[in-house]
Amino acid sequence: MPSRNSIDWNAPPKLPATHYTRGDIYRDEAIFEDEQERIFKKVWRLACHESEVASPGDFRTLEYAGTPLVVVRGQDGVIRTFVNVCSHRGARIVHQPAGNMRHMVCFFHLWTYDLTGSCTSIPRPEAYEKQNLNKDKLGLREVRTGRKCGLVFVNLDDACESLDDYIGDALEAFENVLTENDLEVFTYQHATIDANWKEWQETNLDLYHEYMHVALRKTQIDPKAMNQRELKVYPKGHIRGGGSGYSANYDGYSGWAKREDSKALRGLTASDFRFTHIFPCSSMNARGTIMRISTFTPLNAHQTRIEWRGMSPRSDSEDDWAMRTEHYNQYWGPFGRNVPEDLMAAELCEWNFGPAAARYQIIAREEGMRGQDDGFLRAFYQRWGELMGRSASGEGDTP
Ligand code: FES
Ligand SMILES: [Fe+2]
Repeated sequence: MPSRNSIDWNAPPKLPATHYTRGDIYRDEAIFEDEQERIFKKVWRLACHESEVASPGDFRTLEYAGTPLVVVRGQDGVIRTFVNVCSHRGARIVHQPAGNMRHMVCFFHLWTYDLTGSCTSIPRPEAYEKQNLNKDKLGLREVRTGRKCGLVFVNLDDACESLDDYIGDALEAFENVLTENDLEVFTYQHATIDANWKEWQETNLDLYHEYMHVALRKTQIDPKAMNQRELKVYPKGHIRGGGSGYSANYDGYSGWAKREDSKALRGLTASDFRFTHIFPCSSMNARGTIMRISTFTPLNAHQTRIEWRGMSPRSDSEDDWAMRTEHYNQYWGPFGRNVPEDLMAAELCEWNFGPAAARYQIIAREEGMRGQDDGFLRAFYQRWGELMGRSASGEGDTP
């Protein structure tokens, strides 16, 4: 196979426009800003699990599309989300990542808000009377909040469709797991990586890179079962993998014990492996005895913050909790045989797409939406293109 000169290297691949991406989508600041407006400020996004805000006053803060948010359960039991910005002079109100509060008091001038977002107290309010300003007009900005199967989603667009309409059937592989196990968060990790958010998401959608993970080579890849693996694509860019052809034998990796069916989460067998991605940045993964929900936040064109939550049944004994912690960390822990390798792969792409040394990505594998077909990547970029009003391959752009 001959090497290529610069003209050939820089030319678009001779492939359908759906089968490759162009490098500027990973580094162009204008495209990044457009993504914030057209995608992240419009879609439903996983905020937390409802067990994190189990009691009245429990809260969880997060940042999303440049907007600080606080998710809080009110005294009435309702989970609401507010922009974490004081109506007075814009100060951040709630600072801790999580906790319990009776009301929200701004540090700067002590304006106070209740858990429904109403402004309840302003020190020396009479000085605002001339301007006809009073606390009734100064509540916090509330944003849309939805719950499904114990997952709390938020959407910054007041006019967005309902969460049910957005997700459709895409959570079907996880409904039993999420609703029958009385789950709570038993481990939480986050990382900020030097990679564009799409480079990270590609590691979640690309099935072909299984060979990169030694643990997957040893426990999961069965060439004979490849054509049993179905790739399911839902409307709005959501995808699902799992079921027949995806099973794993954990004792195939030296030092790892077999996972027992009796310890599997309800709705799963010990060897079950399944995953669902809700476009663009919310994910569920299950591996028999363990389950993870995750999400990420693009910080700029070259940095992405990722959050992972491990879920376990509230009723776990100490032994079961230790078993689940071990199984979780084998794969998804900071020194596990999965996540660190995926982080590295995303950064390796960023190293080359960031300075434009790499020009195109090829997403052209076709196996009839089975095996290691690139159909998930193409579905993702099709949805990205619909929302962005442009093609990820640059087709139609003026060069
Ligand atoms: S900025 Fe919050 S009370 Fe003044
Ligand atoms: Fe991976």
